[in-house]
Amino acid sequence: MTSHPRPLPDLSKRDWSSLRDDFPILNQQVKGHPLVYLDSGASAQRPSHVIEAISRYYEHDHANVHRGTHALSERSTAAFEAARDRAAAFFNAKRREEIVFTRGATEGFNLLARAWGDAHIHEGDTILLTEMEHHSNLVPWQMLAERKKARLAFIPVTGLDGALDADALDRLLTPEVKVFSFTHVSNVFGCVNPVADLCRRARAKGIVTIVDAAQSAGHLPVDVQELGCDFLVCSGHKMLGPTGSGVLYGRYEMLEATPPFHGGGEMIEIVHFDRSIYRLPPGRFEAGTPSIAEAIGLHVAMDYLDAVGRERIHKHDAELVALARRGLGELPKVTLLGPAQGGTGLVTFVIDGVPPYDLSTFLDGRGIAIRGGHHCTMPLHKKLGLNASARASFHLYNTHAEVECFLEAVEDAIRFFG
Ligand SMILES: Cc1ncc(COP(=O)(O)O)c(C=O)c1O
Repeated sequence: MTSHPRPLPDLSKRDWSSLRDDFPILNQQVKGHPLVYLDSGASAQRPSHVIEAISRYYEHDHANVHRGTHALSERSTAAFEAARDRAAAFFNAKRREEIVFTRGATEGFNLLARAWGDAHIHEGDTILLTEMEHHSNLVPWQMLAERKKARLAFIPVTGLDGALDADALDRLLTPEVKVFSFTHVSNVFGCVNPVADLCRRARAKGIVTIVDAAQSAGHLPVDVQELGCDFLVCSGHKMLGPTGSGVLYGRYEMLEATPPFHGGGEMIEIVHFDRSIYRLPPGRFEAGTPSIAEAIGLHVAMDYLDAVGRERIHKHDAELVALARRGLGELPKVTLLGPAQGGTGLVTFVIDGVPPYDLSTFLDGRGIAIRGGHHCTMPLHKKLGLNASARASFHLYNTHAEVECFLEAVEDAIRFFG
């Protein structure tokens, strides 16, 4: 028995409602209605293939990795390292050593701000972000800026459509800027930022680039060589994988120039009582027992995404977004956020007179799960003059019929709160 994932059949010809059957959690009633899960932007669901791979691993192969000299440890290590190979292929990294397993995007950013940032950011330096960043790509940099007496600068968002002020970028890429960290797909606007262009312009000035792929990695092709970034982070649970899994990609030279984050077992080559010699990347960044089952589950999730086809998922997401935007746009009192065209994965909106929390509670009564709140972007909401907004977010298992059902329920809510 081995926890190497079983090869998946080609899923690229199966229709969306049949793919939906691969997700057992979706087959349930909530408050007397069939569940309509429109909160994948917060956390996606997983196909039975992922769940079974995790069970299989715990039933047959679990032991600690890298340290045993017995059969189970060898199997467990082989499966864990196979997940690293899979992630390297998934993101088109040049080398498997460029893949560091983390517990998610938040840990990826904290690792970068603490380990890379403490070594490379100095007093007077500038850390460049955008105004649309998730708190996980903001707060760790605020903490670094405080430690180092560095400053933060932000590329402005020009309005509710989420466009970045491209002119400001040239002005903001000053010699003081040492790092530029920004999102690929916004978790509020659903816009796809021009990552390759932004990285190219930053790199031309010697600025290190970090891409937040939390909202993109599970939805569209993400090729780190094409994007030209130095680092990239993502969360496995938004990619149909387990919670507690994630990937930090770093160009090997960048990882080599980054000191460790956590200290402990596994990340060392030699330990003396008074000092230690650390391992080369990626081992240096994986202190202690890693999330083994989670990495194996993520391996299968990446297989699943590719078996369906990431281009195809991207197209499907965009269709659902277009349908939702068209329907919401026809309703009274609704203001849409995000680009009129080209948005992906989610639609965010506000309704005059209907607080987002009340809307999500109303929809929950119909079995429809959406998110009401600030979506971990408080400063952005403040800038837009909003306390909160409502967000419906999609994945490959959502159907046109579910979007229609959501639109009907929103229309009823407007009437109800009237
Ligand atoms: C754009 C973006 N970045 C980062 C994160 C943080 O991800 P996690 O909570 O999985 O660490 C999220 C989560 O919603 C996100 O949407």
